[in-house]
Amino acid sequence: ELVPVICIDGPTASGKGTVAAVVAQKLGYHFLDSGAMYRITALAATQAGLAIGPAQEPAIAALARQLPVRFADGKVFLGNQDVTETIRTEEAGMNASRVSALPSVRLALVDLQHGFRQLPGLVADGRDMGTVIFPDAALKIFLTASARQRAERRYKQLISKGISATLGGIQQDLEARDARDMSRQAAPLKPADDAALLDNSELSIEESVAQVLKLWQGTR
Ligand code: C5P
Repeated sequence: ELVPVICIDGPTASGKGTVAAVVAQKLGYHFLDSGAMYRITALAATQAGLAIGPAQEPAIAALARQLPVRFADGKVFLGNQDVTETIRTEEAGMNASRVSALPSVRLALVDLQHGFRQLPGLVADGRDMGTVIFPDAALKIFLTASARQRAERRYKQLISKGISATLGGIQQDLEARDARDMSRQAAPLKPADDAALLDNSELSIEESVAQVLKLWQGTR
């Protein structure tokens, strides 16, 4: 093990992004938000006038290989554009899911993701961190929660930002996105064989973080 990696994979709105970021902060490790890369690729494709689908796969993959993405101070930049907020909408998530089903786009982002593996360690958040990108990770967690719980969390987030939404609509959207992510040929969403399953339906963020840290201690 050169540089230790903790992978946290799971479905939409399972809280893995928040949990992964806190774990990284507590351990003083780097943090990879791989979903942001797919969200930014989808945004870049849309801005370039490319329809997201198989017909434009080579063009979108070419964009992804040269993606001018930068993560700094909790913000995300595409070139000089601050896209931190833009990539967080439900629409951006759905577009990310569509772009991420294109195999050559996934391949184009592999080196970028591997580049985050630096000392003293990395916490990686996504769908295929443990299955495809970092198969030798020291710890793999598959973080889930019931669709209802996840929809409620996302709903509260949106409402608190002043974005209008319905709980039913949110749940439908996230189930549609999960279905696409699980059924695709390329790197489908599923737990790695050696992943620990953690259902946080009844856990707070702090409790989820504590569970992950306990599992991490167990590997040391
Ligand atoms: O995690 P997040 O919601 O930001 O991810 C957006 C979309 O990007 C997911 O629905 C999924 O389709 C895709 N994704 C992926 N592989 C990853 C991370 C995200 O396919 N490692």
